Amino acid sequence: MNILSEKFYFNPFVRPFIRLSCNLARARDSRRDRKICGRSLGRFVPTPYEDRYGATGSQSVPYAGLEEIMNRVSFKEGDSLIDIGCGKGRVLAYLKSSGCKASLTGIELNPEVASVASSWSKDIPGISIICGNAFDIDFDQYTHFFMYRPMDLFTFLSFIKKLEGSLSHPVTLIYYADIESGSYLEEREGWKILARDKVFFKNGCFIHLEPQRYSIYEFVPSAKQ
Ligand SMILES: C[S@@+](CC[C@H](N)C(=O)[O-])C[C@H]1O[C@@H](n2cnc3c(N)ncnc32)[C@H](O)[C@@H]1O
Repeated sequence: MNILSEKFYFNPFVRPFIRLSCNLARARDSRRDRKICGRSLGRFVPTPYEDRYGATGSQSVPYAGLEEIMNRVSFKEGDSLIDIGCGKGRVLAYLKSSGCKASLTGIELNPEVASVASSWSKDIPGISIICGNAFDIDFDQYTHFFMYRPMDLFTFLSFIKKLEGSLSHPVTLIYYADIESGSYLEEREGWKILARDKVFFKNGCFIHLEPQRYSIYEFVPSAKQ
């Protein structure tokens, strides 16, 4: 049976099994958080900024999903990655613990969540956390952008326009759960898809309630201007 078909994962007999499996995957992720950061980063925090900033709630990306997507990205000395909407900082925790050579920054709108990322990472060299709005930073200092669906479609479109207008060099966008807004970049000048796939069942567990697509894009500003 194709586990990526809706017939499978919306089947009422299969659904409870997927939920249970996701809970097991979350428990495993929390154990890994505690090893790296000394605390769990797993609790979902709803956002108070949906109406004002189009923000989504804070949910940490599963480690198995990170492994899958980051295995397809290469980093070299001098690269710098920013997680746009870093939540409690699991992406940075994963990258640091796997020896990533890039400098790592997270920006997070919700101070309640940003304070968690700041507190576990404060003494770790190579990680910086900014509590603020991703629209207010200088994008040109970064080579890699990570996003796990931080904003609604309308806000994402404004973000992309701002990004395009302020970059002077090629960048990589690593976009997790991009099924809704990612298609906007498919035919857009300057953007190229380097990799795209779905994650659902990994390391013996379902890691999401339904398959999630991710894409890795390259943006070359000169091709746009
Ligand atoms: C789905 S969570 C992803 C958390 C983290 N990147 C991860 O993958 O584990 C999205 C986060 O983006 C944040 N966010 C949304 N809009 C933002 C903005 N304009 N500036 C900074 N953070 C933002 C939300 O507050 C939320 O914590």
